[in-house]
Amino acid sequence: MSKKLLLKHDHEPGIQTYEVYRKHGGYASVEKALKTMTPEAVVEEVKKSGLRGRGGAGFPTGMKWSFLAKPEGVPRYLVCNADESEPGTFKDRYLMSRIPHYLIEGMITSSFALGANTSYIYVRGEYYYVIAILEKAIKEAYAAGWLGKNILGTGFDHDMYVQPGGGAYICGEETALLESLEGKRGNPRIKPPFPAVKGLWGCPTVVNNVETIAAVVPIVNDGGEAYAAIGIGKSTGTKLISASGHINKPGVYEIELGLPVEEFINSDEYCGGVWKGRKLKAVVAGGSSVPVLPADLIMKTAAGEPRLMSYESLADGGFASGTMLGSGGFIVMDETASVVKNLWTFARFYHHESCGQCSPCREGTGWMEKVLHKIVHGHGEMKDIDLLWDLQRKIEGNTICPLGDAAAWPVASAIRHFRSEFEEMINSHAVEHA
Ligand SMILES: Cc1cc2nc3c(=O)[nH]c(=O)nc-3n(C[C@H](O)[C@H](O)[C@H](O)COP(=O)(O)O)c2cc1C
Repeated sequence: MSKKLLLKHDHEPGIQTYEVYRKHGGYASVEKALKTMTPEAVVEEVKKSGLRGRGGAGFPTGMKWSFLAKPEGVPRYLVCNADESEPGTFKDRYLMSRIPHYLIEGMITSSFALGANTSYIYVRGEYYYVIAILEKAIKEAYAAGWLGKNILGTGFDHDMYVQPGGGAYICGEETALLESLEGKRGNPRIKPPFPAVKGLWGCPTVVNNVETIAAVVPIVNDGGEAYAAIGIGKSTGTKLISASGHINKPGVYEIELGLPVEEFINSDEYCGGVWKGRKLKAVVAGGSSVPVLPADLIMKTAAGEPRLMSYESLADGGFASGTMLGSGGFIVMDETASVVKNLWTFARFYHHESCGQCSPCREGTGWMEKVLHKIVHGHGEMKDIDLLWDLQRKIEGNTICPLGDAAAWPVASAIRHFRSEFEEMINSHAVEHA
């Protein structure tokens, strides 16, 4: 049984309520931080913990926090990114709906560390029932004195608000999120300036993922070193993984980073094996935006080492033979799945969700969708594979935000590892049309 931090009490009856959450040690991190620590000491513990952002990029959280500008007389904000629109990713929804106070506790402790008297939880609009759960929990936290003026008599004031998202994948990109939170269209901003210097309403802002903020609770309770002792190398702590697709037990799992991928897929504690006794074909390990890997490369690195669920191991081999941990959206495909059809579905998504600011993304995602539609619907030609390759190369790295890369990487990896599937699909239809 692996170590559980965030989901230790998720099956406790009534854990959604303040009373039960508090009975299981809830809000201890707020008490500890506000009464016995300085904000700088909390930041130091987060640095020591080695925690990396759980929203996808894996940037060290303590370092991000230390970049926050502190001009005199200017408010600072903490914004929680709960937009969670990445296909295959549903871990934040689980945490927020199951144990809403965990996030609220993490938000208060983190805000204290950052000197933020106001915070926002920007929640994907489609998660309307989660918004209701969070609002109820925030009300309970105010009533119990964890929010509002002079919390625990320490002089720290804090107000927290929930904001429904704008209904677009791009609103999960941190600067688009800030635009949307300010009431505008969710278009990404050009960086720099980064939000830590000029964020919400032009003020210094930290944007963190739900899971990142929640992880601050055990870090403060047990100390940064204890957290860093869990996991492997620079992949410290635990990670929530939302597993879906052709497995026996889809769901949200908390794993200790460093768990072998093979164990995650096959053990009964997690995915319970590929369903119907079929063979594994491919895995998208970190949400739709990361490279897809064939069965042999997800189980072992190109050098023959067991592949682990960690930032480093999943990335081993670069994009030639590796992938990314990303948001932890683990999508499993069995031998009957079509990687090309799946790719077409992703391409439709990215084309639909491109904000349209940058022409390589706006036009390129549309072209990739069109070419894949042509192949999947039996009108593909061999030269279309090279055309797709060319298109993704012209998008990658040429856009304001990484949505363009997110659209390009699945295409590149599918061609790299499953070229023969494209060719077979094109050839089989060529026979049909003959
Ligand atoms: C198109 C796009 C969508 C994104 N969606 C999300 C999201 O839903 N949730 C999230 O936490 N981060 C998302 N991100 C990453 C954020 O921009 C940002 O890196 C993250 O919120 C930082 O938090 P972290 O450091 O705690 O990971 C997205 C990025 C892009 C480019």
